Amino acid sequence: MREETVYISGSLVPRSQARVSAFDHGFLYGYALFETMRAYNGRIFLLERHIRRLRDSAATIGLTSCLAGIDLDKACNDTLKANNLRDARLRLTVSRGEAGSFPGSDTDATPTVLVTTTSYRGLSDQKYCQGFQVGISSFRRCHQSPLSRLKSANYLVSVLAKREMEMAGLDESLLLNGRDLIAEGSISNVFFVSQSNLVTPPLESGILPGITRKVVLELATALKINTSEINIQAADLTIFDEAFLTNSAMEIMPLVTVRDSSRKIVTIGSGKPGAVTKRLMTAYREMVTRETQG
Ligand SMILES: Cc1ncc(COP(=O)(O)O)c(C=O)c1O
Repeated sequence: MREETVYISGSLVPRSQARVSAFDHGFLYGYALFETMRAYNGRIFLLERHIRRLRDSAATIGLTSCLAGIDLDKACNDTLKANNLRDARLRLTVSRGEAGSFPGSDTDATPTVLVTTTSYRGLSDQKYCQGFQVGISSFRRCHQSPLSRLKSANYLVSVLAKREMEMAGLDESLLLNGRDLIAEGSISNVFFVSQSNLVTPPLESGILPGITRKVVLELATALKINTSEINIQAADLTIFDEAFLTNSAMEIMPLVTVRDSSRKIVTIGSGKPGAVTKRLMTAYREMVTRETQG
């Protein structure tokens, strides 16, 4: 099998030759950002939106100036092309780079930019028909922290929350915030449907402003589905007719049961993917086709 090619700080190299310094502040302190994207038919879906989110986040954590002049779009496109992939997942990581031995001692550091890609065609059709079974995590999102709104390498809460549910045989975790409100999944945003109205937790609940979340809100508006960003209590789960999760790799995944904090299983609506969810799944796939085919 041909070895994967990765982009690292200006060069395309075989995966086995990619090296990051042991003194990189991304490694030492989690001082790094990343984006996970999906390519269809050789085109990276919503690449500009991902790069914009990363650059906005870079401004928040003081990485803007060192990223100036680096063509991140090109790095992603070149990596996809070098691997000759049409349907793929890509990860763009930007870290503070090698700097002094104390956190913050990094004024002139050169960032490390890494792009990796692997062949990916999504989860099985069967999974989308069945939907996800999730559980409320014992981990929390911090709604007061600006870091919750960044896709940063400070990702341990997500990793452990995901692992917690995988060990319980469930598909994904739902995290509450410090106010006991539903925030998001460990690697996804969450939506609910009540009487054909679409609701999702607001950004202030301490969530990542998901690219797919935004697209779903736009598609819903175009389909004349009422949308609102509101606080949702875990105790309200029983009132919803439908639910789904979103992220760039998974797109829109129906959510059919939730194991609550007392380990009781709550079935959402009929326990099957609902009509509003299916309309949005279709609209999303149509958008992917429009933007990436032909
Ligand atoms: C914590 C978290 N929330 C939400 C999302 C969904 O974001 P996007 O739709 O931009 O992929 C992700 C993506 O991995 C995530 O890690």
